[in-house]
Amino acid sequence: MTDDLGLSGLLGLEGKVALVTGAGAGIARETALRLAAAGCDVAAMDLDGEGAEACAAQVRSLGRRAVAIQGDLTDHETPRRMVAEAVDALGPVAVAVNVPGGTAGVNKSFLDVTPEELHRVLELNLVSTFLSCQAEAIAMIEHGVAGVIVNVASTSGMTASPNLSPYGSSKAAVVHFTKTAAVELAPYGIRVNCLVPGTHWTQATRRLGQGPESTPEHREFFAAAARATPLGRLGEPGETAGVALFLASDLSSYLTGHAVVSDGGVLHTTARPALGGGSVPAALRDLLGPTDPEGQP
Ligand SMILES: NC(=O)c1ccc[n+]([C@@H]2O[C@H](COP(=O)([O-])OP(=O)(O)OC[C@H]3O[C@@H](n4cnc5c(N)ncnc54)[C@H](O)[C@@H]3O)[C@@H](O)[C@H]2O)c1
Repeated sequence: MTDDLGLSGLLGLEGKVALVTGAGAGIARETALRLAAAGCDVAAMDLDGEGAEACAAQVRSLGRRAVAIQGDLTDHETPRRMVAEAVDALGPVAVAVNVPGGTAGVNKSFLDVTPEELHRVLELNLVSTFLSCQAEAIAMIEHGVAGVIVNVASTSGMTASPNLSPYGSSKAAVVHFTKTAAVELAPYGIRVNCLVPGTHWTQATRRLGQGPESTPEHREFFAAAARATPLGRLGEPGETAGVALFLASDLSSYLTGHAVVSDGGVLHTTARPALGGGSVPAALRDLLGPTDPEGQP
């Protein structure tokens, strides 16, 4: 706890070493940059070595130390190696953010999913996160660091996710695993929380929703997802990276084992219409000016 009410004092991240996986793109890269801006040295890990290098270069341009680590987190040996490389290069890791995940191209009814496809998605989302947490926690305990771990799930793991059953199930498992890891690591002063993004415009989703190979079906999916979101749009990676920064910082020092959703409100929507429709509240009619005869905005 700090008596320093300056932003840096409140965040408590100055001089700490952060390991961010998947840091070559998307929410992870934005998280790595925010951690660096908050004073962390950063180990930027990714399957894409060039992406990791580019992120590390951006961290250095913010005046912090950085190392790029290439590796595939679906290889079970990678988590321990990446933690060892991060510690060797920058010192004991105090913040770990485990980001990579995805559908691995498996979007179909669960009736058609093969055992191989199910395992592929579980490896990418659940097993990689589980083994990363294991390696990170052991290193934190070994170095006497009361650190912080942030895992990344998805709103697909919080509610039914038709045609994404392996992805939704694996992300639900990440939420559940986070609770257990938090309770097991609490005696060492290590916090573990889970960031739960809704649909965002990242490299991967832009390629699907707006890229040259995007199909009308994909474009309609993303347009419908934006319409269904109370804030009226999909998220930008930096917005949700801000939540990751909050979870990594002392601002959340009494928060552990929880799933924090960053989804523009979409999880609170319902297919059931609002009773009385969506008319402008009487209290706002004078403020907002003329509406149509039904009182619609
Ligand atoms: N983008 C969304 O709409 C959205 C929505 C909900 C949840 N999420 C979750 O948020 C996380 C980040 O999503 P994003 O869209 O920012 O990601 P992204 O696809 O933009 O980037 C992921 C990064 O992870 C790296 N990566 C992929 N597989 C890897 C592996 N096996 N080992 C190491 N690195 C690997 C990629 O090279 C890439 O740089 C994922 O877990 C995803 O499931 C994303």
